[in-house]
Amino acid sequence: KRQIIIDCDPGLDDAVALLLAFAATDRIDVLGITTVAGNVRGELTHRNARIVRDLAGNQSGLPVRAGAPRPLVRDPVTAEDFHGTTGLGGLDLPKPKGRASRQHGVNFLIQTLRTMKGFPATLVVTGPMTNVALALSMAPDIVEGLSEIVIMGGADSEGGNITPHAEFNIFADPHAAQAVFRSGIPMRVLSLDVTHQLLTQDEMVERVRALGSYQAVVAADLLAASNKLEESAKARNAPLHDPSTILALLRPDLFTGRKARVSVVTEEGERFGKTVPEYREDGHVEWYTGVDAEGAFSELLGQLGRYPL
Ligand code: BDR
Ligand code: CA
Repeated sequence: KRQIIIDCDPGLDDAVALLLAFAATDRIDVLGITTVAGNVRGELTHRNARIVRDLAGNQSGLPVRAGAPRPLVRDPVTAEDFHGTTGLGGLDLPKPKGRASRQHGVNFLIQTLRTMKGFPATLVVTGPMTNVALALSMAPDIVEGLSEIVIMGGADSEGGNITPHAEFNIFADPHAAQAVFRSGIPMRVLSLDVTHQLLTQDEMVERVRALGSYQAVVAADLLAASNKLEESAKARNAPLHDPSTILALLRPDLFTGRKARVSVVTEEGERFGKTVPEYREDGHVEWYTGVDAEGAFSELLGQLGRYPL
């Protein structure tokens, strides 16, 4: 079984990614969740991650730790237009149970990865990379407990979604992204180049809903809310950005990509936050460019179908 930590900023699509990871209990063991400021403020992303952990039903006691409340250098930027003011599209979900832990998310990452030396874990990042950059600079030895980092972020051929050049997660903390890409750790990148091939069709939402479990119905509501907000902003179906990371873990055979080294534009100006992949055989980054969309949707459906009725 693959041991993973998910660093996220829920966020509608982050929430779907969490539900997908929690469904695949036979293949994925989630060691913990860390949250970061991104789609909405840090207090809200932390609260939302706890809400989703509780509603999964099979993850009680799973650590959810709040990390960095702001980016390294730039001013904070959020994305309420796409996720609603709470970050979960105004869905009416039960409050999180119990008390929130006060352990910092970055300390949780460091402590957990230090225990994984010898059988390293995968870090899945579906938000700005602030926590990861901080953990790597505070404790560079954690690379020994890390097998790879799988991220949603960046764009090359597709162009950006927050500016003409930049994708949101990288734009929200380009300096952190630059530090993580420079670390040399093996990475897989689900950029807009591939997530724009995974659009949420209404028919798909209804098939998820028809699975019938509480969790599947919430996943359908999250997907429907994404589509609604996306339409009011841009009139197209919402891409399945963050769930693509978990799909790539479960079914790498459905994805194709190229090896690259990646840098990030950190100078202010119109290209601020742009990812620049340099495609080369000795690159430590797998930059995905293609996906079998039908296969990916049926994997999503199959996994969400595992929640009991
Ligand atoms: C990314 O930005 C966020 O709004 C989404 O949750 C996703 O992680 C897409 O650009
Ligand atoms: Ca996200």
